[in-house]
Amino acid sequence: MSYTTTAHINLNALQHNLARVHQLAPGCRVVAMVKANAYGHGLLTIAHALEHVDALGVARIHEALKLRQAGIKKPIVLMEGFFEAWELPIIAENQFDLVIHQVEQLQALTQARLTSPIRIWLKLDSGMHRLGLPPEQFITAWQALHKSVNINPDIILMTHFACADELANDYTNQQIKLFNEMTADLPGSRSLANSAAIMKWPATHGDWVRPGIMLYGISPFADKTGVELDLKPVMTLRSRLLSIHQQKQGDLIGYGGTYRCPENMPVGLVAIGYGDGYPRYIPAEGTPILVNDKLTQVVGRVSMDMIYVDLRKISQPKIGDFVTLWGDGLPIEYIAQAANTSTYELACGVTSRVEFVYNSTMSQPS
Ligand SMILES: Cc1ncc(COP(=O)(O)O)c(C=O)c1O
Repeated sequence: MSYTTTAHINLNALQHNLARVHQLAPGCRVVAMVKANAYGHGLLTIAHALEHVDALGVARIHEALKLRQAGIKKPIVLMEGFFEAWELPIIAENQFDLVIHQVEQLQALTQARLTSPIRIWLKLDSGMHRLGLPPEQFITAWQALHKSVNINPDIILMTHFACADELANDYTNQQIKLFNEMTADLPGSRSLANSAAIMKWPATHGDWVRPGIMLYGISPFADKTGVELDLKPVMTLRSRLLSIHQQKQGDLIGYGGTYRCPENMPVGLVAIGYGDGYPRYIPAEGTPILVNDKLTQVVGRVSMDMIYVDLRKISQPKIGDFVTLWGDGLPIEYIAQAANTSTYELACGVTSRVEFVYNSTMSQPS
């Protein structure tokens, strides 16, 4: 069966991207970040396909429970830790790993009555100022945890970078230096690197790397596409031509009449809109799109269920022709740039109305 609007998920590409992680950070253990529905790619299918990673990273406990309920036995790291004490017995029973990032968590954790000790990832705020203990609290927190029967004595030491995607920015060096100073006298494995650091900051690789966006074939850098970094797109978002109109020179297109036809021209309607996660804030012309694998542009304003496409360069377009919004043949980085947003937001934003098709070959119209 062929659906109108589909996200094709290529699990071979996922394996290729994981192999790139292993190639770039040889010998490191890998926590694959699958939070936010595996960056919009489908939590369970992606997690099952990642059988060769050492752990999975999620933000919320319900994401972790979904993985366990689906039979995933690997370590699962709760990257935001726990919010309330009642979560702790569930975390211990399910053998979830736990990020500790603030002193408020210490008392509840050391006083809880747990069936088994929890493995902790102790997070230092080395400069991002999101989650993490400030340097002056880090060592005392480690000591308090290390004494507690509730905690596996092998505490993993971690931090997260604010600017690793900016190669000329010295801030990452400052974060590395602070992390190294604060952890110099502590035993345990180290974990610092996200995708950008895996690719460009080898000094940060430590013992565990935490790739997210690169696993999905997307570049963490503003000036490079995933393909240019030898990654393969995992998601290809596709739809079809719903209708074709011959417009006259001067005709206005769509809500707000934001595009004026510069000449007599064919304009197509494509069955996708912001209700599917295609960004509304692209400009009235210029965003690339493929029709029958040929490059053209989106015109007019994106509406909930439809967008308009300039068909002047497409030979003999027909209703039902295939359209690619991003993915194979059209880097998502270009769409993020046009919409003035991030690739992360685009991938996470694909809505539940879109049909997900895993590893199938993409059918062409007959
Ligand atoms: C703590 C942590 N580690 C790793 C990652 C993965 O980052 P990226 O997707 O840039 O590789 C994230 C994502 O935000 C994160 O929050």
